[in-house]
Amino acid sequence: MKFNFHVPTAVRFGIGVVDGLGKTVAPYGKKALLVYGGSSIKRNGVYDAVTKSLKEAGIEWFELPGVEPNPHMTTVDKGWQICKENGVDFIVAAGGGSSVDCAKGVAAATAYDCSVVTLMDNHTPVTKALPLFVVLTLAATGSEMDSGGVITDTVKKIKGGVFGPALAPTVSFLDPSYTYTVPKRQTAAGTADIYTHTIENYFDTAKDTYFVDGVAESILKTCIKYGPIAIADPENEEARSNLMWASPWAINGLIGCGRNEGWSLHGMQHPIGAWYDITHGEGLAILMPHWMRRVLNDDTLFKFVQYGVNVFGIDPNLDPYDIANKAIECTEDFLFNKLEIPRTLSEIGVDDKHFDEMATDAAAGLAHGFVPLTKEDVIEIYKKAL
Ligand code: NZQ
Ligand code: ZN
Repeated sequence: MKFNFHVPTAVRFGIGVVDGLGKTVAPYGKKALLVYGGSSIKRNGVYDAVTKSLKEAGIEWFELPGVEPNPHMTTVDKGWQICKENGVDFIVAAGGGSSVDCAKGVAAATAYDCSVVTLMDNHTPVTKALPLFVVLTLAATGSEMDSGGVITDTVKKIKGGVFGPALAPTVSFLDPSYTYTVPKRQTAAGTADIYTHTIENYFDTAKDTYFVDGVAESILKTCIKYGPIAIADPENEEARSNLMWASPWAINGLIGCGRNEGWSLHGMQHPIGAWYDITHGEGLAILMPHWMRRVLNDDTLFKFVQYGVNVFGIDPNLDPYDIANKAIECTEDFLFNKLEIPRTLSEIGVDDKHFDEMATDAAAGLAHGFVPLTKEDVIEIYKKAL
């Protein structure tokens, strides 16, 4: 095994931690940009808690509200202009992955003093950015502890983004009670996103990853156990806490140590998101069983058997292909019956009009996946998922 692992983000976890936000950010300057999405943080008290803490610490703040789910480059550039005109020192993102990603784009665009599109087009590794503080309200993307921000270029119809070491948040505040108001559908989609991040790492050809496989299996089991509980009982602290703490570990690099990290499902989902603005986790869940069936072969069978036995408790004495197929059926049962995610792309408003463009975009990054996929493979998976 050979890898680099570095996660500089500090975490404050638990109910009430946002009270300490103001004191934590104070050494970083006097002027903040507060980035958030629609009205959810105003309805559930998060906005009041954040601004109270900033006020008490004597921080002046400007606001970038209205970040779209699947944030647009134009919104990021609006934030860059606000920072530039007002000499903003640091950014506070309050919301789900979209607000955090948008804030990362603003942090980078401001440091480089250019449109985020320039950074996206040039694939600039982001080594300078304004300090970013995160108040998370949805357990899903792991953006609260990783170094990437996904941004949609609405002109080129590409979900690209900004990536680089300077984008890891400085401190993330994770209060599980802030996720009590996440609607059932977003809770399901967020859980599916955590699950998929783990699957993207776990389904890998490396065979010497016993330790990180165990961590990955624990994250998968956490989603299976607590996703349905959080849906049925939104204010269940145990369920919300476990999902919130599982989220960053699925993507912060730990479970990717020693692996190739193919990320095929995200590679196929992002082009759909760019064309149809769908909920990220739902697109991933719909594609997952079709991708699994496509990549199951004699070389990959060992991983499906391990997954079936260790995650779903399937009898290890069964025929290996029976175990693998049962594991895929268990995955479907979890995603579509327990989480109640729609089963098909048609149900979430996707049609086959842009399969060609989407598959071209996806296939460009899928040559090194768990099983390499061509444009034709991707179209086949899209068709089955339709
Ligand atoms: O906009 P508001 O009003 O806040 O409502 C949001 C939004 O409608 C709502 N919501 C969030 N927290 C809530 C809440 N509603 C009630 N109570 C709360 N506590 O949920 C909706 C979805 O929010 P969003 O931030 O879009 O969801 P998510 O966290 O799933 O983020 C999705 C974005 O992250 C990207 C996705 O592609 C997508 O653009 N990703 C980012 C990654 C990263 N940075 O590492 C990795 C992921 O794979 C993913 O690609
Ligand atoms: Zn994801």
